[in-house]
Amino acid sequence: MGAGKSTLGPELAARLDRPFVSVDGVVEERAGATVEQIFATRGEGSFRELEERAAVDAVGSRIPAVIELGGGALGSAATRNALAEGAFTLLVEVTPEEAWERVSGSGRPLARDEAKFRALFEQRQPLYDRTADGRAADADGAVLVAAGVHVEAGALERLRTLVPGDGPVELVADTHVAFLHGDRARAALGDRLSAVHEVPSGEPAKSLVHAESLWSALRLDREGTLVALGGGSTVDLVGFVAATYLRGVAWAPVPTTLVGQVDAGIGGKTGIDLPEAKNLVGTFHWPSETVIDTTLLQTLPEEEWANGLAEVVKTGLLAGAPLWELSTAEQVRRCAAFKAAVCLRDPRDRGERAQLNLGHTFAHALEAASGYALPHGRALGLGLLAALRLSGLDEQVRMVEAVLRPQPVHVDQDAAWEALLRDKKAKDGKPRLVLLDALGSARIGVELEPEAVRAALEALIE
Ligand SMILES: NC(=O)c1ccc[n+]([C@@H]2O[C@H](COP(=O)([O-])OP(=O)(O)OC[C@H]3O[C@@H](n4cnc5c(N)ncnc54)[C@H](O)[C@@H]3O)[C@@H](O)[C@H]2O)c1
Ligand SMILES: [Zn+2]
Repeated sequence: MGAGKSTLGPELAARLDRPFVSVDGVVEERAGATVEQIFATRGEGSFRELEERAAVDAVGSRIPAVIELGGGALGSAATRNALAEGAFTLLVEVTPEEAWERVSGSGRPLARDEAKFRALFEQRQPLYDRTADGRAADADGAVLVAAGVHVEAGALERLRTLVPGDGPVELVADTHVAFLHGDRARAALGDRLSAVHEVPSGEPAKSLVHAESLWSALRLDREGTLVALGGGSTVDLVGFVAATYLRGVAWAPVPTTLVGQVDAGIGGKTGIDLPEAKNLVGTFHWPSETVIDTTLLQTLPEEEWANGLAEVVKTGLLAGAPLWELSTAEQVRRCAAFKAAVCLRDPRDRGERAQLNLGHTFAHALEAASGYALPHGRALGLGLLAALRLSGLDEQVRMVEAVLRPQPVHVDQDAAWEALLRDKKAKDGKPRLVLLDALGSARIGVELEPEAVRAALEALIE
């Protein structure tokens, strides 16, 4: 009571594109009376019965929803069982002071006397702690726990408990990252660690050869978890291996690059490269937990920061907020929450998840035309310019120029255009683009005249 559920609930429902159901609201509708009236005329016992029925119905509904449960509802064993069966139960964090501040004077039946309110708060807390699957204080935090993303400076030290379950863990680390942070990861995993494997640093890890070496080296059974320590490359490889080994074992990425923390570590897309193309083979395999420790970024070289900043700018454009202006810790939290929500709404990339490709059609074309010599962040800075120019958003064009300072690249124009037409998202040889109607409002699958797209591409090439 007083935790702010009735503000947070609808906000979370909107973020996840699910209906919002207030159990108190259902009770009031069914009884044709307000909660206060039911308390006053029929007593608390009668209210609790109505509440239990409404809660069990709501949780059992076939339509996934965000359900707001009143503070006393957990007193019912039937409600607790229904939650354990069919819900992810989120505890909204609040101090007794904040809660009292909100409810005093509200006229709610159990919020008329501060001492009694505090006593009730203390009395209910242990039950909340036992029932909660996760806890959060705001909508971003709620999205993150629902998606299984833990963002905390210093999280690496608590890896043993942050990796769900208590089964054995095999750690797969980028060899360079293993040198920098491997000892701390091993120490943190303690007696759960059963083996450590190293893979080449960066993109070369994403190959069938390294997937096969891991498949052969793993000794995990179905109770075990694969932990990936490295950037997006390591994460993509390990997720793919986890999805396929024994037809799927649990995995937990610990991304160590900014790209990994704001993008690759979230959403369950995994994959490896073939000589024909990047990310040609892969799976969807949602991690059991993504553990994000921003202190791991302290050793990141400058070029990798630039790659990550381009994704932060992309995310800010989609989210409609200047996320690039925030501190690194906040950038990571906000970007991770934005991507997590998009992926929860469209886990298999059948629709709106395509918005995350903003700028990428152009970026991939430039990268391919450069023989992959061009860093992704530099290509994406240019790709965002092209997408924003075609969107007619001049102010955002200037922002990208100021924040990412994209420089035209020296590649073959025809090669870049052919690569753009081969893009996975193209249909019948026509490029399909992600553009913005306005800041924070993406439009996917946009088909423009090829001449306009080609001109936008060529403007990026010197
Ligand atoms: N699955 C997805 O949704 C998704 C999203 C975005 C990108 N990706 C993939 O991610 C890959 C790119 O990943 P990336 O940009 O994270 O880079 P990366 O994993 O290729 O690593 C880049 C370099 O940074 C080094 N490094 C990593 N962490 C470090 C640290 N903390 N300190 C010092 N050096 C460190 C690595 O050793 C490597 O040399 C691409 O293959 C891309 O396809 C996947
Ligand atoms: Zn990208």
